[in-house]
Amino acid sequence: MALERTFSIIKPDATERNLTGAINAKFEEAGLRIVAQKRIHMTQAQAGKFYDVHAERPFYGELCEFMSRSPVVVQVLEGENAVAKNREVMGATNPAEADAGTVRKEFAQSIGENSVHGSDSAENAAIEIAYFFAGIELVG
Ligand code: CMP
Repeated sequence: MALERTFSIIKPDATERNLTGAINAKFEEAGLRIVAQKRIHMTQAQAGKFYDVHAERPFYGELCEFMSRSPVVVQVLEGENAVAKNREVMGATNPAEADAGTVRKEFAQSIGENSVHGSDSAENAAIEIAYFFAGIELVG
């Protein structure tokens, strides 16, 4: 399979606990290459636009507040089958259901404060990458 790219966020609950390096180690051990990365502090409006697809969900307000509480690390990960591979490395959205060894099993605190976000398809990855990065910032 050809190289694929996916979008990832290391969320506030993880940056607050200084877990960026530990999470990046999991990505790299799985064969994912970090081809772009930056630490930013989103406003609630910026988080709201990113999570627009969830605007009608009951947890939307809480989600936007959480994602703008502290800095996040936004990233582009590259590898074979990167979208699916990253989802494997992250584990289930709810840490209580995540497999042993996954990022969420080891680090997540709750379904809301679940340490990482990863794109659910290659199509959404392209949209999410374009929201945070200019093409010149992606260095494969
Ligand atoms: P993420 O992959 O970033 O995509 C949407 C996020 O919404 C999800 O991870 C969770 O952090 C959050 N989320 C999903 N379900 C709930 C819930 N029931 N309560 C609070 N947050 C949720």
